Amino acid sequence: MAASRQPPFCHVEFGGAVAAREPPEAAPEGLEAVFPREVGLFADAFPEETRYGFCGHVLTIAQHHGARLGVAAPVWEAALTLCKYFEKQKLNFWGKKVIELGAGTGIVGILATLLGGDVTITDLPLALEQIQENVHRNVPAEHLARARVCALAWGLDHEEFLRDYDFILGADIVYLKDTYPMLIRTLRHLCGPHSTIYLSSKMRQEHSTAVFYEALLPLHFTSELAYRDENENINIYRVTSKQNS
Ligand SMILES: C[S@@+](CC[C@H](N)C(=O)[O-])C[C@H]1O[C@@H](n2cnc3c(N)ncnc32)[C@H](O)[C@@H]1O
Repeated sequence: MAASRQPPFCHVEFGGAVAAREPPEAAPEGLEAVFPREVGLFADAFPEETRYGFCGHVLTIAQHHGARLGVAAPVWEAALTLCKYFEKQKLNFWGKKVIELGAGTGIVGILATLLGGDVTITDLPLALEQIQENVHRNVPAEHLARARVCALAWGLDHEEFLRDYDFILGADIVYLKDTYPMLIRTLRHLCGPHSTIYLSSKMRQEHSTAVFYEALLPLHFTSELAYRDENENINIYRVTSKQNS
């Protein structure tokens, strides 16, 4: 699966559109054209820093690409679509308890924190350092207490978390068929009668993403398509517990 790959330098995106980036260098000539100076191109891992603008906030997000973090390293398009959705819908997180699953860089949870939420940002242990770094870069010190970063492996750790979340968020976390039953178990545990889940997904046929939404989720939840980005093939679902109906 391919993320919206970006070159290894800092650039600024507003609502997903590139607003400014480093000026391109003149095209290399001779040997330099064959052996570029950019040694990072050959390294296993390279860091990248990207700025995004949503809801009047500029977020500086570090992404540590490489084998160690794997899919947790980049900002995936589904995360940006969810952030844009918050902006369009003017979603209000003030005083709300929020949890993000499979946060990767933490961009979604960080935006929810800046929009007033009391947010728990979770992922597998390997991603927590990157998320913590991004939290510290973007959340002012006086609000850091509203952005906790915790390990939560689906199907394993959820019992340690309460069921009192107003919002449960996930961007591009429906992509590994084997994990679907564990993800459902975690969602069932976290989702109380007053919770709203927002899941933003690239609808990949090869990963049976539609099976998750059309066959598995409806067994326990009521869900509706809240938004679709036709060009990116990304759907955002608003999901609630069946206990509500
Ligand atoms: C495709 S990435 C999406 C990252 C981020 N939400 C985004 O959209 O930019 C999937 C994320 O799910 C996390 N993940 C995968 N399996 C998981 C599991 N069993 N429990 C918890 N998180 C998991 C990965 O570590 C990764 O951060």
